[in-house]
Amino acid sequence: MKRIPEPEELMDEADQALAYAQADFSASNELFIQLFEQLYAGEFTGLALDLGCGPADIPVRFAWRYPQASIDALDGAQAMLDLARQAIENNGLEQRISLHCQYLPAPRLEKKYDALLSNSLLHHLNDPQDLWQTIRNSAKPDATVLVMDLLRPESPQAVDALIAEYAGDAPEVLRRDFEASLYAAYTLDEIRGQLAVASLQGLTVSQISDRHLAVQGRLV
Ligand SMILES: C[S@@+](CC[C@H](N)C(=O)[O-])C[C@H]1O[C@@H](n2cnc3c(N)ncnc32)[C@H](O)[C@@H]1O
Repeated sequence: MKRIPEPEELMDEADQALAYAQADFSASNELFIQLFEQLYAGEFTGLALDLGCGPADIPVRFAWRYPQASIDALDGAQAMLDLARQAIENNGLEQRISLHCQYLPAPRLEKKYDALLSNSLLHHLNDPQDLWQTIRNSAKPDATVLVMDLLRPESPQAVDALIAEYAGDAPEVLRRDFEASLYAAYTLDEIRGQLAVASLQGLTVSQISDRHLAVQGRLV
């Protein structure tokens, strides 16, 4: 099935950001943390960067799971960052999670990171190199990379089946977001091609659920 890009890359409408922040993504966000645990043996104590952090549910979960970690969380949408700030304050994590309003492609970021994280950003990007080059340029040697996203289904019927299964009762705005995201998602082969262009072939790309994929590994 042909890819249809998202109508807008950023989620900068207050209503859309709020509907997204109020939706229950706990299962997939917890899966993200479990994948990181499998990838990074031991206690992570370094500096992580979360790209396209949205309302910061993943940085908050990561901070609770790894109490010695610090996280820089970046998003281009101020509406999302306003919600992220609330979540961080509600969890008392202001000292460990810092927010950055930054649209990708970014000029080179100042810091280098021990872990590069991203969930559900890739399918928003019309130029996926905006993500992969940021990861390559911002990683310390031996950094851990975990990128999770939706996988584009093979047919419109498969899209409809996923919407019925996972968003049947969701508000209309979220059902439309989910549908647009599934059409905009990349395939495993497309991502392998993107990684080759970015010289990130060391990362592995795999399907991890009926609708998710992960790109993961350590950089050499
Ligand atoms: C689907 S949300 C995912 C949010 C979060 N990672 C999560 O898992 O809940 C995608 C986020 O990426 C942000 N985004 C999209 N394109 C971007 C870009 N070019 N630069 C920075 N952020 C972007 C959007 O504003 C939105 O907050």
